[in-house]
Amino acid sequence: MPDVTVSTLLGLKQKGEKIAMLTAYDATFAQAACQAGVEVLLVGDSLGMVLQGHDSTLPVSLADMAYHTAAVKRGNQGALILADLPFMAYATLEQTFASCAALMQAGAHMIKLEGAAWLAEPIRQLAERGVPVCAHLGLTPQAVNVFGGYKVQGRGDAAARQLRADAMALEQAGAAMLLLECVPSELAAEITQAVKIPVIGIGAGSATDGQVLVMHDLLGLSLTGRTPKFVKNFMQGQPNVQAAFAAYVRAVKDISFPAEEHGFSA
Ligand code: KIV
Repeated sequence: MPDVTVSTLLGLKQKGEKIAMLTAYDATFAQAACQAGVEVLLVGDSLGMVLQGHDSTLPVSLADMAYHTAAVKRGNQGALILADLPFMAYATLEQTFASCAALMQAGAHMIKLEGAAWLAEPIRQLAERGVPVCAHLGLTPQAVNVFGGYKVQGRGDAAARQLRADAMALEQAGAAMLLLECVPSELAAEITQAVKIPVIGIGAGSATDGQVLVMHDLLGLSLTGRTPKFVKNFMQGQPNVQAAFAAYVRAVKDISFPAEEHGFSA
């Protein structure tokens, strides 16, 4: 059992204390993140891009995710481990159950799924079977080919209405947490207010209940040389990785990150 549980995260939301989440893919960085005060370690399928060098997350396999989840578990010091189900590992209910079992048995405490209202039934069934789920909404990178690129989602009245309705439906279905990626800051603030479960943002402004960054982005490392608008390089002015992680946690907690310039307008 980790020190940080689903109830801890709910308590942080209720107290108004921001939650610091960071991606981790191995034991050493998982330990360093925990020692810096990170509450949730996300074993993200972003590993397909930052570790494996692919141009999307689509090539990542369930075996890759289980391998990295097990490594993070070995370095974890009390954080909640959230692991991504990779592309097409939850296309059917049976497959979803088997994929969740593989990641929970590797050490995950919560599972993240990308999608919208269609996830309501799988989330309901997983919650009944003891699997806490984080629903990832907005820019869901596994659907990059549907979106036609990594684009801000929820802009315009109809899209905003749809995103709000999806968030409510997934909370209703039993999601334990929501993650909003690249949505207008104002919309993210409304959704955070409207739901009781914690909402984590990336490119979603400062009003969400917490923030997440890809570790390599935080450290100023990029294979492509392109830095998304929502990223801040926390290595700048810091002597080492440990200090950069601590600076990130401090900035999330005191709400100095994200600044307005890291967010998107409607
Ligand atoms: O895979 C990942 O690292 C993620 C974050 C970008 C939120 O889903």
